[in-house]
Amino acid sequence: MSVLSTCPVVPVVVLDSADQAVPLGEALLAGGIEVVEVTLRTEAGLPGIAALAGLAGMTVGAGSVVLPEHVDAVVDAGARFVVSPGTAVPVLRRCAVRGVPALPGVATASEVMACVAEGLTEVKVFPAGLLGGPAHIAALSAPFPGLRFMPSGGVGPETMGDYLALPSVPAVSGSWMVGRDLLGAGRWDEVTARSADAVARATGHGGP
Ligand code: 3PG
Repeated sequence: MSVLSTCPVVPVVVLDSADQAVPLGEALLAGGIEVVEVTLRTEAGLPGIAALAGLAGMTVGAGSVVLPEHVDAVVDAGARFVVSPGTAVPVLRRCAVRGVPALPGVATASEVMACVAEGLTEVKVFPAGLLGGPAHIAALSAPFPGLRFMPSGGVGPETMGDYLALPSVPAVSGSWMVGRDLLGAGRWDEVTARSADAVARATGHGGP
């Protein structure tokens, strides 16, 4: 499975209640986003993944996965891909054993090389904005033809097009359409509106 071919925009979610999961997923789908990364930063993350795994049409992944035992927990809950802030070979190998794609964060060429050595073809760049934005990814991707990058951290509606203009970037990731304030207030229409806007912007830059 290619995570980055699923949708050009991957929302990163922090849930404060597992009850937010299904309305959130429905709001994303209504806006044209069919993938979501639910982080393990809160207690609601794992049950939220389980709830979204049962939502037709949605591909749910886990984020902020830092230990191999987390991989087992999220896959058992229904996660279909695993995102990490950095590159940890034990996490990558546990993902391989469990048969789920890993999307580890990279910031340097050495981390990319570690991912390539593990057979990966897709990685996340984190925190993309602070690392130097699209120019950083253009330079980082040059020695790795065929490798695909997903920027995350500091990406927004105004900058996502600059990333997607790079041939090595099929998708971007961010939280601007799923902010905790929006979820806490139940502003699902706003989630849908921001999602549709993001998909429209992606479509204008080589997306589906
Ligand atoms: C994160 O770490 O939460 C993701 O990289 C998203 O970052 P953002 O909130 O800057 O979009």
